[in-house]
Amino acid sequence: MSFPYTEEMMESVKKVEATRAARMAAEPRRMTAEEKDALLEQYHPDYNLSSFAEIIVGPNKGEKAPKELVELLQAKSRVQGMTLDLAHPDYDVDVLVIGGSGASAAIEAHEAGANVMIVTKLRIGDANTMMAEGGIQAADKENDSPAQHYLDVMGGGHFANVPELVEKLVMDGPECIKWLNDLGVLFDKDKDGNMITTHGGGTSRKRMHAAADYSGAEIMRVLRDEVQNRKIPVVDFTSAIEIIKDTEGKAAGAVLQNMETGEILIARAKCVIIATGGAGRLHYQGFPTSNHYGATADGLVLAYRAGARLLYQDTLQYHPTGVAFPSQIYGALVTEKVRSMGAQFVNVNGEAFMHPLETRDVAASGVIREVARGNGIHTPLRDGIWLDSPMIDAIHGEGTLEKRLPGMLRMYLRYDIDMRKVPIVIYPTLHYQNGGVRVSVNGMSDVENLYVAGEAAGGVHGRNRLMGNSLLDVIVFGRNAGQEAGKQFKNVTLSDLTLEHVDSFEKECEAAGIHTDEVSPKILPDYRRKK
Ligand code: FUM
Repeated sequence: MSFPYTEEMMESVKKVEATRAARMAAEPRRMTAEEKDALLEQYHPDYNLSSFAEIIVGPNKGEKAPKELVELLQAKSRVQGMTLDLAHPDYDVDVLVIGGSGASAAIEAHEAGANVMIVTKLRIGDANTMMAEGGIQAADKENDSPAQHYLDVMGGGHFANVPELVEKLVMDGPECIKWLNDLGVLFDKDKDGNMITTHGGGTSRKRMHAAADYSGAEIMRVLRDEVQNRKIPVVDFTSAIEIIKDTEGKAAGAVLQNMETGEILIARAKCVIIATGGAGRLHYQGFPTSNHYGATADGLVLAYRAGARLLYQDTLQYHPTGVAFPSQIYGALVTEKVRSMGAQFVNVNGEAFMHPLETRDVAASGVIREVARGNGIHTPLRDGIWLDSPMIDAIHGEGTLEKRLPGMLRMYLRYDIDMRKVPIVIYPTLHYQNGGVRVSVNGMSDVENLYVAGEAAGGVHGRNRLMGNSLLDVIVFGRNAGQEAGKQFKNVTLSDLTLEHVDSFEKECEAAGIHTDEVSPKILPDYRRKK
């Protein structure tokens, strides 16, 4: 392979280089609140009303959600037409964790004495948590406090966040970092052993703890080891396709399907924890995604059909810096840490048009607007914006980018692009669902004994999440759900198991005139060419 930038791109790179010194000397301007509101309204995809539809059936009837999600929420059940022997389950446990990102939940429930099982549709760790790059926030430095973190989270979320959930997130943050560190997570530290922390978009303090630019992989490595050490059973390549309830309406397990053989298995459980992650693979509004292949909103579908309400299902996060070029890695994540370390957004004329660390919704909209104004860099799949990555070594010294962003460097070097020397082209990529299943502060959804943690839950982040609060969310609320289920299962006596709620939901759909061939949960995206 040879260096892939075209002559036209290199003409623009010269302009970026020519303005670099002056841009480094100037303090980038922050937008006013009014400027941000106007920008979001005009350019943020959440405001593109034609891509949303009304939910006709279920607890969120009358509310909006992305069309693709509405279709799945109101699709046919995969168990339709099956005769299932619910009275003779294949697995019988105290706590069933659905999704490998619920490893922290499983560990805490196990710690509380529960007989726990994890079921995951791929392998444990094949999930967005593993792919998280830039870091995990927690206010554990002297110049910081959970109160300061709280204000940042609320501001970033447009004050739509559920206050008690945010309080839990920020108050438990420092203890979670300690828990992970004690378990063996290799966080970046200085020569005296102090955690190195950086800013993220919308943070008032440097509180991003990281393991280089593979923070999620490092955290999952350690959690997976801990699950194995505790001998917690993991049933992999097995999807949950429906939540089972008992005749009193409590969550009581799940119908499982082996991904290879198609075999149906029944798991009975006194408590169920959904930790199935997000929905990037639904490619809302045709966006590429930074998400794992398994991110198909399964948890939302399972919980919704069981009777749980969703919250903020109409708000998505488009990460400002997805790869726009080269095409082979279109949509992959370029961590916000690249901007935390100084790289600026620069247009085709070499102008920095926006502060690099505005909150994500604002930054993504700013990039979309700059391209819409005709100031993008032309590449085969779509026009994008320069992220001036050579600034990192220019600011912090040679070798910094290689040390702090080794994953990024390697990803681009595979295509002969050395981001230490040339800027890279980015455009927003679908990254996160800000909303999800509504939960109380104990992690329980509207369905008794059905807990939801991590990206599948909604409310913590309001209408926009800040960087590093998703890893914190999945750890804080994963542990929380595990601890709560670890207490709760001791009080549970299950009645007969039933899927009556699935039948009633289908009848409601029929009565509402919904006719569809779609089945859900989706489980995996379908990238086959359509005839
Ligand atoms: O940019 C990133 O590294 C992503 C972090 C996050 O979504 O929290």
